[in-house]
Amino acid sequence: NLNMLGQREPDHYGHGTLDDINQSLSAKAAELCLQVSTFQSNHEGELVDAIQKAVGRVQGLIINPAAYTHTSVAIRDAVLLLEGPVIEVHLSNIHQREPFRQRSFIADIATGQISGLGASGYLFALEALAQALALYVPVRFVETSPLACREAERRGHDVVCDSALLDDIYEDNDDCASATMLG
Ligand code: DQA
Repeated sequence: NLNMLGQREPDHYGHGTLDDINQSLSAKAAELCLQVSTFQSNHEGELVDAIQKAVGRVQGLIINPAAYTHTSVAIRDAVLLLEGPVIEVHLSNIHQREPFRQRSFIADIATGQISGLGASGYLFALEALAQALALYVPVRFVETSPLACREAERRGHDVVCDSALLDDIYEDNDDCASATMLG
């Protein structure tokens, strides 16, 4: 039901829409030199399919499984297929709500959980993901992550940050590629 944000129980979920959240995530991602893609569905199987498709193609995941948080072994199993940090986000504080919302099938397999901080929680999650990524197998992902590349260099790994490749990936954002080379 996250597509109904803005109209849905504003006392719990605020007045912003899912589009607002996605736009602020894109802006924050550009700042962090990360690329984000977003997906929403009301169908459990579609969410499982989307997570499976992301395997091997993403470095981390921010997920608000909404009501499926409390019920879905299928989404949990799909998340287990992913490598990299996973941040679980809830707009409302699920731990202050009904007992059935206080159980999460994702929490114990997630890197961390942000709950109750509203839409800002997604931005904090992206920052947490960026930090976790820099620590998580930094050498393996340097080709696609300037942040990881910088961190790998900082830690003295023998890496070459390929500016041409980074330019290709970040053609819209020269700062990301050049910051990496200066890093
Ligand atoms: C939610 C909390 C869930 O319990 C609920 O079913 C949602 C949204 C949140 O973001 O606070 O749909 O995940």
